[in-house]
Amino acid sequence: MKYQQLGRSGLLVSRTCLGTMTFGNDAWGCDAAESKKLTDAFVAGGGNFIDTADLYANTVSESILGDVLQDHDRDALVVATKCWFPQAEEPNARGLSRRHIISACEASLRRLKTDYIDLYQFHGPDPYTPIDESLAAMSDLISSGKVRYAGLSNFHGWQVVQANEAAKRAGITTLISGQYLFNLLRRDIERDILPACRSEGLGVICWSPLASGFLSGKYRGLDKPPEGSRFDQMGKVLLPRFWNIKTVALVERMAAMADELGESIVAVALAWCMAQPGITSVIAGASKLSHLEPQLRATDITLPEAMLTELNATLPCDMGYPHDWYQVAGAMTFPADHIRVP
Ligand SMILES: NC(=O)c1ccc[n+]([C@@H]2O[C@H](COP(=O)([O-])OP(=O)(O)OC[C@H]3O[C@@H](n4cnc5c(N)ncnc54)[C@H](OP(=O)(O)O)[C@@H]3O)[C@@H](O)[C@H]2O)c1
Repeated sequence: MKYQQLGRSGLLVSRTCLGTMTFGNDAWGCDAAESKKLTDAFVAGGGNFIDTADLYANTVSESILGDVLQDHDRDALVVATKCWFPQAEEPNARGLSRRHIISACEASLRRLKTDYIDLYQFHGPDPYTPIDESLAAMSDLISSGKVRYAGLSNFHGWQVVQANEAAKRAGITTLISGQYLFNLLRRDIERDILPACRSEGLGVICWSPLASGFLSGKYRGLDKPPEGSRFDQMGKVLLPRFWNIKTVALVERMAAMADELGESIVAVALAWCMAQPGITSVIAGASKLSHLEPQLRATDITLPEAMLTELNATLPCDMGYPHDWYQVAGAMTFPADHIRVP
């Protein structure tokens, strides 16, 4: 296992993070016993970074993880969770108000059966609460010792910059991480979010690095997902997000690459993510123990340059304007032979 500092912080996290969205999910996840096996094997394999959220399995994921943590050295682990999604019908039990952030954090601490959360993340942006209010609440949680570091998830690039400025005003040195959808099929964050995180000093943790299982190759040769599978149950969201003629072709090509390397498609998909500049850790999900082995191996794989080049070129992010404008106009205005880049 390899470790990297998360953003501009001293916090070392394993490059593979254990995703726990499956824990306690009756429809397409795993029960408490399998969740324990997964966590035990992940830690035994050198992983120290575990991600959950109050949202997952209606808080059951946090409760299961809390039980499992009792059998581990809590201080050797980096436990991340999130708030933002509705926790009750009442209008204040959601979003990023001071009131909700503090009560959601206290509820997560109770379920996780721990005194502190290493990384507390805003799960999404709140269009109604001033960002200074949210970061002031986060700052108080850090001062009280309930939270060690702050991060965010699913914010636009401009919101990352805005939130980081608010963090500094609130007395938090900076936010340390952004958690984003990123994999070989969905590279949207390359447009604005990765540059924003890089310039603000946030490490990026990517979710669904295996495209929710599509990049495991388990749907190869099928016209539609098998009944009861995650892609069947979550088809409305996952099919348009990941499944089309181009992504099917890419998985076939990845299968050939994996064969050539003597690795699995999973390991190739995760190694590609880890090779991208700015990516600190990949949060892979698993619903059974056998899923974990290639995920843990991925940190030790260096993809050959030719494979990286081909994978980078296959389904690139459509950068659009103003990137395409700058490519032309920037080259005219700042020609490489006139401007010396320091
Ligand atoms: N911040 C956010 O908004 C956000 C959103 C989503 C997720 N997340 C985080 O990201 C984590 C990962 O998300 P994800 O579950 O979508 O990630 P993923 O890694 O893209 O997909 C995980 C799924 O891939 C399949 N899989 C994994 N390893 C496999 C293997 N070796 N062989 C065959 N199949 C394999 C399994 O599918 P089956 O179970 O179907 O077999 C597994 O449940 C979550 O647990 C959560 O912590 C965050």
